Amino acid sequence: MKIDHLFARKPLSLLLEEMKGEHRLRRVLGPVQLTSLGIGCIIGTGIFVLTGIAAHDKAGPALILSFVVAGMACIFSALCYAEFASMAPVAGSAYTYAYATLGELFAWIIGWDLVLEYTVASSTVAHGWSHYFQSFIGIFGLKVPHLLSRAPFDFNPDVGRLVPTGTWFDVPAIIIALIVTCILVIGIKESASFNTAMVAIKLVIVVFVIAVGAFYVDPKNWTPFAPYGLTGVSFFGRTLVGQTGLGGEPLGMLAGAGMIFFAYIGFDSVSTHAEEARLPQRDVPIGIIASLIICTVLYIAVSAVLTGMVPYDKINIDAPVADAFKHVGLPWAQFLIALGALAGITSVLLVLMLSQPRVFLAMARDGMVPPSIFGAVHPRFRTPYKSTILTGIVVALLAAFVPLRVLAELVNIGTLLAFVIVCAAVLIMRRTNPEAERPFRCPFSPAVPILGILFCLLLMFSLPAENWLRLFVWLLLGFIIYFLYGRHHSVLARQRAQGSR
Ligand code: ALA
Repeated sequence: MKIDHLFARKPLSLLLEEMKGEHRLRRVLGPVQLTSLGIGCIIGTGIFVLTGIAAHDKAGPALILSFVVAGMACIFSALCYAEFASMAPVAGSAYTYAYATLGELFAWIIGWDLVLEYTVASSTVAHGWSHYFQSFIGIFGLKVPHLLSRAPFDFNPDVGRLVPTGTWFDVPAIIIALIVTCILVIGIKESASFNTAMVAIKLVIVVFVIAVGAFYVDPKNWTPFAPYGLTGVSFFGRTLVGQTGLGGEPLGMLAGAGMIFFAYIGFDSVSTHAEEARLPQRDVPIGIIASLIICTVLYIAVSAVLTGMVPYDKINIDAPVADAFKHVGLPWAQFLIALGALAGITSVLLVLMLSQPRVFLAMARDGMVPPSIFGAVHPRFRTPYKSTILTGIVVALLAAFVPLRVLAELVNIGTLLAFVIVCAAVLIMRRTNPEAERPFRCPFSPAVPILGILFCLLLMFSLPAENWLRLFVWLLLGFIIYFLYGRHHSVLARQRAQGSR
């Protein structure tokens, strides 16, 4: 194995050729279903849960601007994703794009990073589901036993460190992860229709929150608008601009953006379904961009309403949206919202856990992970069932034991890194393959990809420093796996070796 193989690129023509082969997934998804899958994966724990933590601890009402900044980072990145998704509409998403542009080592890094995005995000979302489940049954005076209600430790901003919560693990989070796993093993078509119903319910609820909540907004709650300031950027633990929390974490509008970025994650998952799209070149870019724009508008409105209904320091951090309606004396609305949030968060979990095995599938086909597990497609259901089950087990375990904020911030930094690589890959691909067919072209290149990179880096530096450490440890683990397994089993490496003989 020569060192130059680490940077060997998978030719675009080969990617397209492979799509014609055996063992492909069924092409059943149209533009509405793809947009719906996007929205299904976007609106969830971020807006229904993390807005509370971000407004309360990091941004105050300036959270509205946090949503604008995070939305811009996503829109620039989405345009880059859309260009790639139209060029190489295969299942692997950013992993495949990196293989075609930056070479095998980068592809592996990003594939490994997407595990952070999809599997760890699924655990975060399962936690959010558990919060709303507990808020919902609480309306009827029911309670999950304290010991089984949340992760055994959590970050406490008042003391600036992780503290024990006096519980064992989060049982509702485990149960929902396992239920979704079973649904996914049965199949994509059924999953897509289930998703469409869930998306409809959650859109109705979000519009309800905006329309009804608007009548209960007290503009006094918007002052002070930015109690923690409008910045919040640090460099490996040293605050560059803005205030610092007790644990050394940056505070302010940008720090809020770093956290609620999670709310936008998911539009890129549309690209992991390219292989199941009927007209991928046209419909995947539509799905990515339409779902992101719809959600950005809704998020800005919801955050304005929420911070207008409740003073920022009184916003509930477990189930903030439902609780805001209780706060203004509308318990029936709390019931509706908790129910809608549960449906909405379920659909996020469904799409995230649908996406992970598809990235693994692409990696298994390239020999990066064992094909006997990650490449196995069920003969009847035609779903990657083994890796779906494995993903489900890992999601359930992480959700059971690791707290929501820790998981969310880790997901954010990993996903932002993936976005930086995708934006960079668009710039590189324009130089290396200028003549390749691009059914969708990212507009105003190179400005848009460069802005995407800068915005994502800004958000990465708005996260508490320990996330960088966690990211490095994660990547190190990834390198070890690559050098022990992927490097020796790479299909491309074998083809190159045969070719040079
Ligand atoms: N954006 C998704 C959510 O907020 C991951 O739940």
